[in-house]
Amino acid sequence: MLLAHISDLHVMVPGELAYGVVDTGPMVEKAIAHLKSLSPDIIIITGDLVHQVKPAEYQRLKSLLSKLSMPVYLLPGNHDSRELIRQTFTDYTYLPSTGYLQYTVDAGDLRLIMLDTNVPGEGRGELNAERLTWLDKQLSEQPNRPTLIFMHHPPFTTGINLMDGYGLTGLKDLEAIVKKYSCIERIGCGHIHRPINKRWAGTLAYTVPSPVHQVSLDLIATAETATFTLEPPAYQLHLWNKDTGLVSHLQYINDYDGPYPFVHSKSH
Ligand SMILES: [Fe+2]
Ligand SMILES: [Fe+2]
Repeated sequence: MLLAHISDLHVMVPGELAYGVVDTGPMVEKAIAHLKSLSPDIIIITGDLVHQVKPAEYQRLKSLLSKLSMPVYLLPGNHDSRELIRQTFTDYTYLPSTGYLQYTVDAGDLRLIMLDTNVPGEGRGELNAERLTWLDKQLSEQPNRPTLIFMHHPPFTTGINLMDGYGLTGLKDLEAIVKKYSCIERIGCGHIHRPINKRWAGTLAYTVPSPVHQVSLDLIATAETATFTLEPPAYQLHLWNKDTGLVSHLQYINDYDGPYPFVHSKSH
């Protein structure tokens, strides 16, 4: 079982650029072509699906995703609207028709729990009593099955001041729930547009780079002086095998020189 986790697509309508610089559409198109050629069993997209929360951006994303034949599971980020996701992806029948966009997925031996941290119109994330009670219930139903939790906002402070300012509330309660279950293999997140990982509440929590722009690794900049770069776009892969457990790889999207064989052919 191969899972691909990609996050923060920030799709826009043609002709518009994120922050006046990034033409996200072609970059997302490239990421989707890369995923298509790799052909994982399942793709998870942890929010910031679009940039300005316009219906036309979701339509563009839907058309880009239509090139994929494997199941694609969506979560909202802070740049998203639950209602527009529901209205656009009507054929994604796993999406709940009311309330938070959270649900579980059976993925072979694995179970995926998709947790909605969106607060409409705000950059921060929130896990309130209703969302956390739901999470606890899902975990209690299959406490021994290897499980991955996905959500947009990471549960840890990153040291990047701009992004930590748009953090997640409800962390103490989330931590108490996660600590109860030894079956949680990973907590996979986006939002930070960088590869970061941390041991958290007895499991491994991480964030993935974005397929578009990356937040600069600047541990001094304030929210006012923070910047972004066009460092290599990437996504996360999780390879599950009963014998080896869950092994995670970071996969770059752009084209680079190679591949070259390790064994040189003799010239004589
Ligand atoms: Fe983002
Ligand atoms: Fe975000």
